Amino acid sequence: MKRYMKYVKPYKTAFILGPLLMIVEILGEVIMPKLMALLINNGIANKDSGYIAAMGGSMIGIAFLMMIGGIGGAYFGAKASINFAADLRNDTFKNVQKFSFANIDNFSTGSLVTRLTNDITQIQNLVNMCLRMMLRAPGMLIGAIIMAFVMNARLAVIVLIVVPIIITLIAIIIRLAFPRFQALQDRVDKLNSAIREALTNVRVIKSFVRDDFEKAKFEEANSELKESSMRAFKVMITTSPLMGLMMNITTMAVVWYGGKQILVGDMPVGDLTAFTSYVAQILISLVMSSFVILQSSRAIASARRINEVLDCESDINDEHAAFPDKLVDSGSVEFKNVTFRYYKESTEPVLDHVSFKIESGETVGIIGSTGSGKTTLVSFIPRLYDTDEGEVLVGGINVKDYSLKHLRDGVSMVLQKNVLFSGSIEENLKWGKEDATLEEIRSVADMAQADGFVSEFAEKYETELGQGGVNVSGGQKQRLCIARAMLKKPKILILDDSTSAVDTATEARIRESLKSYCPDTTKIIIAQRISSVIEADKIVVLDDGKVVGIGTHDELMKSTEAYQEIYYSQMDKEVG
Ligand SMILES: Nc1ncnc2c1ncn2[C@@H]1O[C@H](COP(=O)(O)OP(=O)(O)OP(=O)(O)O)[C@@H](O)[C@H]1O
Ligand SMILES: [Mg+2]
Repeated sequence: MKRYMKYVKPYKTAFILGPLLMIVEILGEVIMPKLMALLINNGIANKDSGYIAAMGGSMIGIAFLMMIGGIGGAYFGAKASINFAADLRNDTFKNVQKFSFANIDNFSTGSLVTRLTNDITQIQNLVNMCLRMMLRAPGMLIGAIIMAFVMNARLAVIVLIVVPIIITLIAIIIRLAFPRFQALQDRVDKLNSAIREALTNVRVIKSFVRDDFEKAKFEEANSELKESSMRAFKVMITTSPLMGLMMNITTMAVVWYGGKQILVGDMPVGDLTAFTSYVAQILISLVMSSFVILQSSRAIASARRINEVLDCESDINDEHAAFPDKLVDSGSVEFKNVTFRYYKESTEPVLDHVSFKIESGETVGIIGSTGSGKTTLVSFIPRLYDTDEGEVLVGGINVKDYSLKHLRDGVSMVLQKNVLFSGSIEENLKWGKEDATLEEIRSVADMAQADGFVSEFAEKYETELGQGGVNVSGGQKQRLCIARAMLKKPKILILDDSTSAVDTATEARIRESLKSYCPDTTKIIIAQRISSVIEADKIVVLDDGKVVGIGTHDELMKSTEAYQEIYYSQMDKEVG
């Protein structure tokens, strides 16, 4: 609750003016029936046209004031709630952007999308409703009850009987609706997740001819949502007719009992008209309150989900960095006894006491079977994950002691699962360096062996890439990603299987240009093919999370069995 006050403060005026203007409307609503009664009793009964005109005139005046109050109230209510939601959405999004890789593993993307859109809208609706009804519902209820009693206390007793019945009915409705709304929100989540996965992977789905499966999965999520909505709305649907029925019964009771009083001359006719209006107002205000409570139940469920995101602190931050201003000025890397698990409860670590050192400017190959922990190992250098035990030093300093910005400026990593973004090739490459000139871009692209194919595109560097880089080939995409990373001129360049889709000759050229373009940069090359790392200063062989050998190709061929196995299996393939 407290955290949300922050979003109220900047819009204080709207938050105050909204309800205040609503008071004008309430006062009008409460006074109008009384004036109507006076008009009937004094004006019409006595055929006093002067009185009728005066009274009618003031009623029109009040109606105008009510309209102004109503419009103003609605305007400020909407303004306050829309701004509130926009700021909340901004903050939530900002926090999501701060998430570490480990945090992202925890939330599904679909769920984050629901939280940022639908859930925040629920809260916005509640804020809007509260601003409009917070004063209005109780104000109208109390005002109408007082007026009813002042007008005719005996008749008002009917109200006292009806109100508790209605409150009980509303309580039952809310109890039924509350869990249904919570279930509804979960289903929205599930549907969003299904849609997201199907849309982002539409190519894979088509190539595996899994359309039917995905369709079935979507239909299931969709029909679950439909049922959930039906269950929730059945409750809502019964509310209005039920309240209508209660209102009619009450009005009939009032007219029947009031009519008798009129016949014996205890009550003027005009009062009965006014009285039925008050009864209607009492019931309407109760129904309004019930809607607010129902919406609160939805919004509370949503707020809980938003809080989960806001409370999720990135476990990787640079608050305790000892040298926040230090730039990475040396490309040496040292792993000291590094142990790591993705799931903290699992017994087998993904990396088990890994220690080795890379000198600045060296080219180091990392090789090992799939799942041996290569990607995980290098993720510690730019702090995509933090180690559980042990430490990683860059330039002799613990990576945690750099600011994240400086560390990641100094360490460029081409991810195994890399993507390009929608936008031109030039814009994409500029991610590496915002103010890069076209000359610079061309020269790194040339080194990454990308300039050749880009120049063949009709629009060259202006060529628009589709989302994720769909309109370039796998190998072209990898070369663009390498160029993007090289543009940073990092101290440490990590290529995680980044040339897997590039032919060996092109790959060799990329290696050559890396050597000449950035001789001082430490290059860490993860590869499946031994040919990719054969010339490296040293090769680290990983097996099942452990370093089983370090050395040059020739040394490893003599000393390390795992390396020999990889070598011979690849030779076999080439020969056979
Ligand atoms: N985000 C993650 N959450 C949980 N487990 C993970 C995650 N990423 C990797 N793992 C697990 O950690 C182990 C090491 O994975 P890693 O990606 O480091 O292997 P790799 O050597 O890079 O394999 P490949 O050659 O296939 O890229 C694997 O068993 C994998 O299942
Ligand atoms: Mg990997």
